[in-house]
Amino acid sequence: MRFVLKVNGRSGTVDVPPDMPLLWALRDVLSLPGTKYGCGIGQCGACTVNLGGRAVRSCQTPVSAAAGAVITTIEGLSPDGSHPLQQAWRELDVPQCGYCQAGQIMSAAALLARTPKPTDADIDAAMNGNLCRCATYLRIRQAIHRAASIATVRSMRSIQPARSNGPGNT
Ligand code: FES
Ligand code: FES
Repeated sequence: MRFVLKVNGRSGTVDVPPDMPLLWALRDVLSLPGTKYGCGIGQCGACTVNLGGRAVRSCQTPVSAAAGAVITTIEGLSPDGSHPLQQAWRELDVPQCGYCQAGQIMSAAALLARTPKPTDADIDAAMNGNLCRCATYLRIRQAIHRAASIATVRSMRSIQPARSNGPGNT
């Protein structure tokens, strides 16, 4: 069957079985390999993408359920790696082997979208299903706090009034 998937701001048609996991459509049909296969049974979070603003496990989401919704993968988080989470991840050197990190970041992105200033408890609850065999959990938590701060500073800068050239500003 043919489905239209809206991924990372672009629409693409895939001709796949309706029960194909979204993970495989992303990786094998749309050539977006950033989303990783871990367990395949919804237990590790490596395959996390954002679907309609929610973090979902793409290994457990059939293509038929994702068709028409806005999907964001790690490749679409920002055009140039400048999303606050990506900046914070680099600053704090979060990844170790890196395998789980796309899923971690996509879960964190959904968290920050609904809770811009999360507490430790918010973070632990939101990230609970994302496993890291390298145990980078503490750095992940620090990086989410750091990303929240970066986002706050950026939004404050974006609402600063433009400087005029009127008296006193020349
Ligand atoms: S691969 Fe989807 S949750 Fe593990
Ligand atoms: S960084 Fe290695 S599994 Fe998370």
